[in-house]
Amino acid sequence: MRSEININEIEANKQKEIMERLRIRITDKSKELGRPLTYCSVCFGCQMNAKDSEKLEGILETIGYVRSESEDADFLIMNTCTVRENANLRVYGRLGQLKKYKKKNPDMIIALCGCMMQESLVVEKIKQSYRHVDIIFGTHNVFKLAELIENKLNSKGMIIDIWEGTTEIVEDLPSERKYDFKCGVNIMFGCNNFCTYCIVPYVRGRERSRKPEDIIAEIKNLVADGVVEVMLLGQNVNSYGKNLDNPISFAQLLEQVEAVEGLQRIRFMTSHPKDLSDELIAVMAKSKKICKHLHLPMQSGSTKVLADMNRRYTKEDYLALVDKIKTAIPDISLTTDIIVGFPTETEEDFNETLDVVRRVRFDSAFTFIYSKRTGTPAATMEFASTEEQIKERFDCLLKEVQDIAKETCSKDQGQVLEVLVEGVDEQDASLLTGRLSNNILVHFPGDESLIGTFQNVKLNEAKGFYYLGERVE
Ligand code: 5AD
Ligand code: SF4
Repeated sequence: MRSEININEIEANKQKEIMERLRIRITDKSKELGRPLTYCSVCFGCQMNAKDSEKLEGILETIGYVRSESEDADFLIMNTCTVRENANLRVYGRLGQLKKYKKKNPDMIIALCGCMMQESLVVEKIKQSYRHVDIIFGTHNVFKLAELIENKLNSKGMIIDIWEGTTEIVEDLPSERKYDFKCGVNIMFGCNNFCTYCIVPYVRGRERSRKPEDIIAEIKNLVADGVVEVMLLGQNVNSYGKNLDNPISFAQLLEQVEAVEGLQRIRFMTSHPKDLSDELIAVMAKSKKICKHLHLPMQSGSTKVLADMNRRYTKEDYLALVDKIKTAIPDISLTTDIIVGFPTETEEDFNETLDVVRRVRFDSAFTFIYSKRTGTPAATMEFASTEEQIKERFDCLLKEVQDIAKETCSKDQGQVLEVLVEGVDEQDASLLTGRLSNNILVHFPGDESLIGTFQNVKLNEAKGFYYLGERVE
């Protein structure tokens, strides 16, 4: 145990030393060019990736690169996702376009990282067909970006550093926060569930929990720095802490987070229904800070398909869990993920999914057409339905979830509720955008100075997935 801490501290110090050396090199280079060196950070995929990108950006800022939104930058980093096939296709498309920037600026460095890079076939393809890429690394060694950049500057070839897995969690490196007032906090990495359609356990490795004291220390620092809302991140937060030397439950961790003074809102994602405990429901029900929102991926409503997916709950288990949650926390907002067209899904199975959707009445649902991921158990299963049947089901489900969500999301019309103001509305600059505890957006007239504050807003008009409102003093 002790030696692990020391290894991590030594590693963090090593990276900080490299950052110092790079800072000098980058300052010299920008003096020579008479302009700052810029970086552009592109991120695909989930909140875990967004968090990793903040860490990468923290390192790039520390070594002296200046942020730019244009891909025509001196350093371009693309953090990739591979959960569905079209995520991969988008990356290849973008890579093709980057070639022209590199021609114009041969010193440009292009780096790729994230889940897609953990697949050996992808790395082979990039080595062969996208030779303008300079650095490739994966999900386990984000903390090493500075070292990889230094290696690149000292050599000519492509730098490739993919780790199969890791037990290391390197703490205390810089991170560039996207918002001043809210922040994601990793509580665990990886996943042990091996749902048969999912590539995540292969590319993010086995489950590893951070120690509660490290998490709490990070949150206290964030709060001291102005953060009022944290989002605790993990692929399956409900199994947090099981493998720690001193095991604790996710509910116990939440109680510790709740006790952090100055912190006002706590969110978390994602929850696996099979591990959601009564203890967690009780902690949520009595909490003053945990938001009234639960993202609870159901994936399918058919017990047969759920078994084929290795989800380890039945349709009835899921419905009973939802009942229990709604009874304990009546104003909870429930959202979900649903996959349509899993290989063994028939029309009858799909109707079970529709049945659950109609009974639960989700506030919103992310719907996906099943995408075959090479190497997962589902990739070798025979399809019970045609592509057309699956597309029809998808359209039918989308309409159903949208119709229900419109009604569910309107239920607070006329009420005055607390909103955390997140920014200026992208469509109309006279409006601000904020979020209710249940995660629904509210737009209302107001001044930029309110960003990051809590405001009481009267929800005048439900617009389907958001409200239009006005501030009440
Ligand atoms: N095909 C379609 N959707 C998938 N998801 C994960 N793997 C696949 C796949 N192979 C969806 C699940 C998960 C969400 C993040 O992505 O619904 O909850
Ligand atoms: Fe994938 Fe299942 Fe793990 Fe979620 S719980 S990341 S769907 S394997």
